[in-house]
Amino acid sequence: MFNFIRNFQEFKPSIFKGYEIYFDLGTASTKIAIKDKGIVLREPTYLGLNTKLKEYIFFGTEAKSILGKTPDFIKIIRPIVNGVISDFDAQVSLLKKFMEQSVYIYFNNQLIKPGMQAVAIVPSISTEIEQKAVQEALLKVGLSHVFLIEKPLATAAGCNLNVFSHQPNLIVDLGGGLIEIFIVGSGGIIAQKTIKNAGDYMNKLIYNYVYLKYGLILGEATCESLKINLLNFTNTENTTTIRGKSLESGLPKSVRIKTSDIKEALLTSFNQITDGVKELIETSPPEILDELLYRGIILTGGLANIKGIDSFFANEIKIDSYCIHNVQDATINGIIKLSKDYRNLHKLSIDI
Ligand SMILES: Nc1ncnc2c1ncn2[C@@H]1O[C@H](COP(=O)(O)OP(=O)(O)OP(=O)(O)O)[C@@H](O)[C@H]1O
Ligand SMILES: [Mg+2]
Repeated sequence: MFNFIRNFQEFKPSIFKGYEIYFDLGTASTKIAIKDKGIVLREPTYLGLNTKLKEYIFFGTEAKSILGKTPDFIKIIRPIVNGVISDFDAQVSLLKKFMEQSVYIYFNNQLIKPGMQAVAIVPSISTEIEQKAVQEALLKVGLSHVFLIEKPLATAAGCNLNVFSHQPNLIVDLGGGLIEIFIVGSGGIIAQKTIKNAGDYMNKLIYNYVYLKYGLILGEATCESLKINLLNFTNTENTTTIRGKSLESGLPKSVRIKTSDIKEALLTSFNQITDGVKELIETSPPEILDELLYRGIILTGGLANIKGIDSFFANEIKIDSYCIHNVQDATINGIIKLSKDYRNLHKLSIDI
């Protein structure tokens, strides 16, 4: 029965297929694309709940911009944690809003709304229940059929690699909720390692560092901006003055923070990542090592925006490393690419 549905999906004429919508439901940001139209939405995965009215009232960029500045009855929620849905209702509300903003506007003039199929990614370490949650959430917001593919395969395709090629490639996706280190080739994941302490956890490390070293309490948004504005691996020392709350007096206090502070705060985290890459290489089949050395390590995800991160990886691991263009769009671009060929999509989609 299942095969029959699959075959039907595969061969039905395109007129019946309706729209195809692609989703990268990231911990830090959500990206949505429409077939033949490209990326139509990039928004932070945040929303604000009015706990008095029990209603979600802020979404995406607006919700993230008011983080730490709201009255007590407004709670800012991050519905995706470490790449998986942690608050189902909030995620459905956020998706509904994002669909209204970016997808439904295309149907405004159409009397009969066409069916919409979804292609979405799930982390390869996600459980069946976590994968079903993604499927359910998308069905709830109006998608008629959901294909799920493992995120590393989409990310690899978005790095301009042919995931079906027999030449293996090593990729590190440095995201907000997950650091995914993986080797892909022959249409699958050959080896992988996932670290849950990713970009968002680094903001917490900055909070702790500034708290202990300078006796200053910072908001989450300030910690992230310190990471984005100061951190680099190019030996450039930048400084910035930040204002927070004094631990001693509880009053506002200003402190000058340097690039070296942020590096010190995050060094163990980055060492954990490079150690993870080394371990994955050490435990990989010997046949592929030579090819990996030859082709180098590909870096992607939001943290790959950090200046000099490619040289940092190359120095630590002693293998050439380079960042792709548009690092934060690699996964959604990969979904778009893989979905161009229906047969490939069926080969890669997860049965749940
Ligand atoms: N220029 C930058 N410098 C440093 N960090 C950055 C920069 N730009 C983005 N980031 C960080 O990258 C992370 C977001 O990356 P990305 O958009 O790849 O995550 P995601 O896809 O939403 O998460 P995941 O794939 O882990 O679920 C955040 O922690 C953000 O602070
Ligand atoms: Mg991601």
